[in-house]
This record gives sequence, structure tokens and C-alpha cells, in this order.
Amino acid sequence: MIVSPDSEHIKKAAALLVAGELVSFPTETVYGLGAHALSEDACKKIYQLKARPPINPLIVHIWDIEQAKSLIDPNCSRETIEVFYTLALFWPGPLTIVMPKSSVVPSIVSGGTDSVGIRIPNHPVALTLLHEAGIPVAAPSANISNYVSPTTAQHVYENFGEKIGMILDGGMTSIGIESTVISLLDPSKPAILRPGAITQEMIEETLGFSISNQKGSAMDAPLSPGLLPIHYAPHTKLVFVSKVDLDTLMGQKIGYIAFSEGKNLAYDFSSIIVLSHNNNLSEIAAKLYSALQEMDSQELDLIVIDECIESGVGEAIMDRLNRAIKRFK
Ligand code: TXA
Ligand code: MG
Repeated sequence: MIVSPDSEHIKKAAALLVAGELVSFPTETVYGLGAHALSEDACKKIYQLKARPPINPLIVHIWDIEQAKSLIDPNCSRETIEVFYTLALFWPGPLTIVMPKSSVVPSIVSGGTDSVGIRIPNHPVALTLLHEAGIPVAAPSANISNYVSPTTAQHVYENFGEKIGMILDGGMTSIGIESTVISLLDPSKPAILRPGAITQEMIEETLGFSISNQKGSAMDAPLSPGLLPIHYAPHTKLVFVSKVDLDTLMGQKIGYIAFSEGKNLAYDFSSIIVLSHNNNLSEIAAKLYSALQEMDSQELDLIVIDECIESGVGEAIMDRLNRAIKRFK
């Protein structure tokens, strides 16, 4: 059931989480499918409902940095803790920090690894819910595994229907793509496992030294399965518009997702969605998944989409699109 995020519903949602039930809630990135992070049984429900591979760890959401202390290995090095607190300057925000985990974090949450991904989301509904529940909440994106992440409550409902007790409706998410994931398992070499709205340049500027960017490297797959080559994909075939010869596809039902206005392609598209007037990368990211899901509901033969530069937020946009498109290769 989709409900408005008033204080009564948030209280009910918090009680459901504490009782080990699943609740979907908005964050600034995408909607999450939350469960009590310290309850193995509750987290099991996430994996079952999403059909998620058990090796894919869950991000633990907290509302206050004090809560992180119990989740992190008490023996982890001073250096790791220092870098952690520096990166926590991005919180609340779209950054997930992977740390050595303490024993309270069940291995189902860590995908069998010794680490835990932690994040304080920057959304009033998420923060109120987490505060009210008073427990850390494990939450992957609220979609069936490998499908496009939800940026509206309606998207969550389309994935799961009535199987989730409560979906808190916070409107469309503002950032639109999942958080940046950074690993501090080797604190001298922080590594970006998944690019997002907090960019490599922003992190390097805050840390004062350069970091490694492992995105796209297949060998990282066991570490961060969000990096598996195929992910985030719609059901309808998706290709970059630059890679198709539209002349050979006359008569097909094709949808075009344009990144900016003014490109007049010589094709009678069944549907066109323009994501930004002027190629603004944050705007493109915010509307991207919504556009993919809208096009996916139109029974098209093909979706064609623009590309953007792979720097700043453009890196995350192209990362998600390349993974989605791999499904159709
Ligand atoms: O923006 C987001 O991060 C959203 C919202 C709901 O917070 N959540 C999200 O969760 O995107 P999910 O499960 O769809 O993606 C989590 C990513 C996966 O690629 C996972 O492998 C990685 O984070 N991850 C989580 N814990 C990790 C860990 N301990 N080690 C390495 N990677 C981890
Ligand atoms: Mg996901």
C-alpha cells in the first residue's frame, strides 16, 4: 500500500521495521526496501522478495553517525577511522562507506564478507523513519534484482504490488541514481566501487589525496555485485542512438530518450522523452530511471538513448547505461 509520509504512517512504518517486516521509503537517490539490519530473518525477506543473489551485500542506513560505531569493527585501524570521519562530512548524502564490520552485523547483510556498507541518507522521510525506528536499517533499491531502480513510490508498487506492507510516498527522488560506494578496507587506498553523485573529484578534494576508481573492473564483481556487468536494465531492448542505423529500422516502434533539446533525428519515433533542456548532468541523472521505466511500459520494439561525457555525475550515468545495455549484447 502506498501511503503519505505523515507522522502517523512513519510511526507505523517504524514499528513494522522493528517487528522485522519490510517497508519501502524514499531517499534522495532512489527508493529503498528496508528491513531491520540486525535481524537475519528480516533481511532474508529482502533477498527473497528481490530475488537477490545472496553474495550481494546490503547497505545499512543510519540517521546519526553515533550509530555507526556499533557496526564497525572495534579493532579497525586509526587510519581507517580517520578517513571514515572525513568522508562522513558528505553525510547526510549519497555516499556509502564500506568498513570492516563488527560482529553485530549479520553475515546476510554483508553478503558473507567481513565488511559493511553504511550511509546516512539525505531525505527528511528517511531520516525521520530511521530516528523513529531507532535501529539500523538495511535497504537495497526497492526493485526486483537487476531491474531499473525506483525513483517514485509508484515504481516500487509496480515491482512488488501488495507484497510490501507499506510504501512511504515521498514523491520523485531528487538525485535519481544510487549512492556512490567507496571502500575503506585498505584506508591508504580508498576505492570507488560504484560511481554516483558524490564524484571522485569531490572525494579527492575532501581527502586531500587521490583515490582509486575501480568502476567497470570485472574482478571487483565479488566485492560489489552492483558492479556485475549486467544491472539496472529495462526489459525492452536498449541501445545508444549513436550505435544504430535508424534508416534500417523503419516501421518499428522506437522510443528515444534525449539528454537535451534540439536534436532532430530523422525518424518517426513512437515516443520521445527529453531529460534536460541543456544537457545538465544532474537533471539527466534525476530523470533517467523514470524515463526508462516509462518507455518500458509502452511495449516498444526498441529504446534508443543519448550518451554523455564520462566525468562528474556523467560517469555514474554512463556506468549505469553501459551495464543496462550489456543485457542486450
Ligand atoms: O542510493 C543507494 O545506495 C540506495 C538507497 C536505497 O540507499 N541503495 C542501493 O542499494 O542502491 P543496492 O543494494 O541496490 O546497491 C548496493 C550496492 C551494491 O552494489 C552492493 O554490492 C554494494 O552497494 N555494497 C553494499 N555493501 C557492500 C560491502 N560491504 N562491500 C562492497 N560493496 C557493498
Ligand atoms: Mg540496486
